[in-house]
Amino acid sequence: MPTSKTLQATALTLAFASLVVGAGLWRPTPVAAQAADPAPDTEAFYTQKVLPILKTNCYTCHGGGNHRGGLTIDTKAGLLKGGHDGAVIVPGHSDQSLLVKLINHAGPANDPMPMPPKSKISDADIATVTQWIQAGAIMPADAAAQ
Ligand code: HEC
Repeated sequence: MPTSKTLQATALTLAFASLVVGAGLWRPTPVAAQAADPAPDTEAFYTQKVLPILKTNCYTCHGGGNHRGGLTIDTKAGLLKGGHDGAVIVPGHSDQSLLVKLINHAGPANDPMPMPPKSKISDADIATVTQWIQAGAIMPADAAAQ
């Protein structure tokens, strides 16, 4: 049916648009509905959007005293220090950040492995983390206390 085709096309367009926006590739003029969302270069963005993703998916191995691969990510110092392979993020340059490669499962297959090792976080969550690093990886010094 042409109607459902049109609907499908609309849904696809919307999905694509939200991907582009999520990845921070395109910044629309803020409208009232978006005003409540913190900007990616704020501690609020980290605390409200990024931290829950890291807590759920990474802290069992990289937080609260756990430091697999030599990496702790629940403090700013730990995140900036990186792991066995050195820096894992380059604030302002998500494309050069090992962490971003690994969560996209676009890094080395074994050392360091894709992260998390046994699963992949959602595209929306990947986009949120990427956007935050691209905006400078702003976070409170002691993120774990938030
Ligand atoms: C089940 C445990 C586990 C979970 C969950 C996990 N990691 Fe890891 N992570 C590891 C291990 C083990 C290594 C070391 C892998 C290696 O050296 O091959 C590692 C290494 C890394 C490295 C590379 C460190 C370096 O310098 O080599 C990064 C970056 C990383 N993890 C990020 C994350 C992120 C971000 C998440 C959550 C999205 C996450 N990890 C979830 C176990 C885990």
